[in-house]
Amino acid sequence: MRGVLITLEGIDGSGKTTVANALANSLPEARPAKTFVFTSEPTHGEAGKILRSLLVDRSSEISEKISRAKRMEELCLFMADHANHLARTVIPRLNDGAIVISDRYADSTVAYQGVTLKSIVPKPRDWIKEVYSPWNVTPNMTLFFSIKPEKAIRRIGFRENKEKFEQFDFLKEVDRNFHEIIKREPNRFVIIDGEREADQIAKEAFEAILKLI
Ligand code: ADP
Ligand code: TYD
Repeated sequence: MRGVLITLEGIDGSGKTTVANALANSLPEARPAKTFVFTSEPTHGEAGKILRSLLVDRSSEISEKISRAKRMEELCLFMADHANHLARTVIPRLNDGAIVISDRYADSTVAYQGVTLKSIVPKPRDWIKEVYSPWNVTPNMTLFFSIKPEKAIRRIGFRENKEKFEQFDFLKEVDRNFHEIIKREPNRFVIIDGEREADQIAKEAFEAILKLI
């Protein structure tokens, strides 16, 4: 594949989408000869649409009452969405030589479903990676926006009731999973301090990408 795949990862509220929007403005101007494709997971394809409808109620997503079957349904939808994203967008565009920038990708599945599948499979992160490995495309670079879960939650305006504490605990676990993923592949990741001003963060992301492409 001639192109370059760059992914943006981090917990909810870490500022990925804000950075992606800034990059969509700055990168094409800085590298006019290149083709940039900005994309995201969940996608806007069929599985992505189902996922978005399931994810609206975030409290039920992480409630203890949720059935194992529902957690598996969710994993399968994320996996189907990722496969669809690869087959329809990522691989064809990389073959065309484009710079593909995805707001979330397979690391999110390992980090988030690595939490939701905890009581279902013994080592969920490893298990998901194993299922993905024969058909996934590894990013050339992943920008990880690092932010304390407390701060991310304040940004996205979570309320302070019991359910919301559960969500805070959930994001803390997701954050730990991301750090485990980074430990295993440190060379793929660029860690960006996501707690600063949006302009500074976008500039650091922009510079990291320009170094690669
Ligand atoms: P994500 O896509 O990672 O969930 P967003 O880019 O949607 O994060 O940002 C979550 C919220 O935080 C939005 O309301 C956004 O305006 C705000 N935000 C994003 N970046 C910053 C920043 N650097 N400082 C303060 N607030 C930010
Ligand atoms: P997204 O729309 O990117 O949320 P945000 O912009 O708030 O970060 O993703 C929706 C939610 O889906 C988010 O909570 C992360 C979760 N998610 C997974 O649980 N697994 C996955 O594989 C992906 C791609 C996202």
